Amino acid sequence: MFPAAGSRSEEVYKRAQRVMPHGSSRKSLYDMRSYAHCGEGSRIRDIDGTYILDGSNNFMVLIHGHRHAPTMTALSEQLGHGLSFGLPVLGEVLLAEHLCARVASVDHVVFCSSGTEAVMHAMKAARSITKRQKIAKCEGLYHGTYDYAEVSNAAPVKPGFQGFPVSRLSSDFGMPHVLEDVVVIPFNDAAVTEQILREHAQEIGGIVLDLAPSRVGYVAADPSYVKALRRLADELGMLLIFDEVASFRLSYGGAQELYDVTPDLTAFGKIIGGGMPVGAVGGSAKAMKIFDPTEKGGVSFTGTFNAHPLTMAAGLATLNHYRVEDIVALNKKGDRLRAMIRSGIAKQGLPAHVEGSGSFVSIFFAPRMGNGYHAIAHRPEEQALVQRFWSAAMDRHLLVDVSARLNISTAYSDADVEEAAAAIIESIEEAFNRSQPAAA
Ligand SMILES: Cc1ncc(COP(=O)(O)O)c(C=O)c1O
Repeated sequence: MFPAAGSRSEEVYKRAQRVMPHGSSRKSLYDMRSYAHCGEGSRIRDIDGTYILDGSNNFMVLIHGHRHAPTMTALSEQLGHGLSFGLPVLGEVLLAEHLCARVASVDHVVFCSSGTEAVMHAMKAARSITKRQKIAKCEGLYHGTYDYAEVSNAAPVKPGFQGFPVSRLSSDFGMPHVLEDVVVIPFNDAAVTEQILREHAQEIGGIVLDLAPSRVGYVAADPSYVKALRRLADELGMLLIFDEVASFRLSYGGAQELYDVTPDLTAFGKIIGGGMPVGAVGGSAKAMKIFDPTEKGGVSFTGTFNAHPLTMAAGLATLNHYRVEDIVALNKKGDRLRAMIRSGIAKQGLPAHVEGSGSFVSIFFAPRMGNGYHAIAHRPEEQALVQRFWSAAMDRHLLVDVSARLNISTAYSDADVEEAAAAIIESIEEAFNRSQPAAA
């Protein structure tokens, strides 16, 4: 098991257990057991001096890997000016100008501190604009931890199930009234989605969609599904909201650029803050008016750390270096990584498969049965394999996210891609107990 018994990480982990619930502030990290000391490019060095190839990049945040020079310079310059102010700073305007120029559907944008907040504000905006209380979201998809967003975000996977999804609370005691306000629709199933939306036509204010959801292996939403949502939103008077917190990296103007569909609002996060905490909501001037503080009856958009000067500086430097040519090159590396894994799986005759798009990769240990959540997402019987895969990858000093997902940064060299592919194939083999663990 990584890290080795008696390591400094193990000692810190024991201390953490005494002062935090199961030693962690982040559910996705509670079992990590290795503590980061610093990062450089595609690698993290932990406090035991072990170098780890970073396939997490802090859960899809660090698009240029660690200590990206222009981002670090921008941060140092801003640090020299002070940390935060009860006045706006120029950096906020510069990042807003950048996003408005970059994303076709965005005339206006506002900044907050996390993707969760961005999705929450977008949902509140849709409810306020339409004066309807319900939100529609896809079963199984993750949109952060706002109560409404959490509904059915980890619905039990029933392989191959097609039909009407059920709204579920994310914990035994969630807020039951939230279930009444969140209507769950099946990802990529336009016919059933249409029936559900029509049934609640007078009550739903907004439909939220992730165009490349992590829970379904970053499989791109079917263009006909996205078009159907736009058509239905227009016909039934609902707002269409894209959650591009993660998918924004896929194309220069966000994943939405790959579809001929314009959302009313978009939630952003992750890479647009350059590694600092961030969220943003952008959209048409008409929809964004709801955040205008001088408008009566609007949504109150407040937050002590909204548009934090360090975030604005880091975000702009990062995005200025994430140009079309950088994205094309990165996505090609993602294609190569998936192709290498696919060929390794075939060569070894492993009952696994790889999904993903652009710089996203996701490993599954059971066959895909279609295009929806129940056809792709990890099944209950895969969970032990997912866990063993993660642990085997860690033993090979490759950090992947806990759900057998990874993403690569522009800091990945061709050799890093090859190293990641080899570690992943070996780790899949080990998950199936078909090889011995590597020496730690
Ligand atoms: C699609 C999507 N939406 C929302 C969120 C929530 O963002 P944050 O963790 O910054 O609150 C995430 C986080 O992983 C995400 O992937």
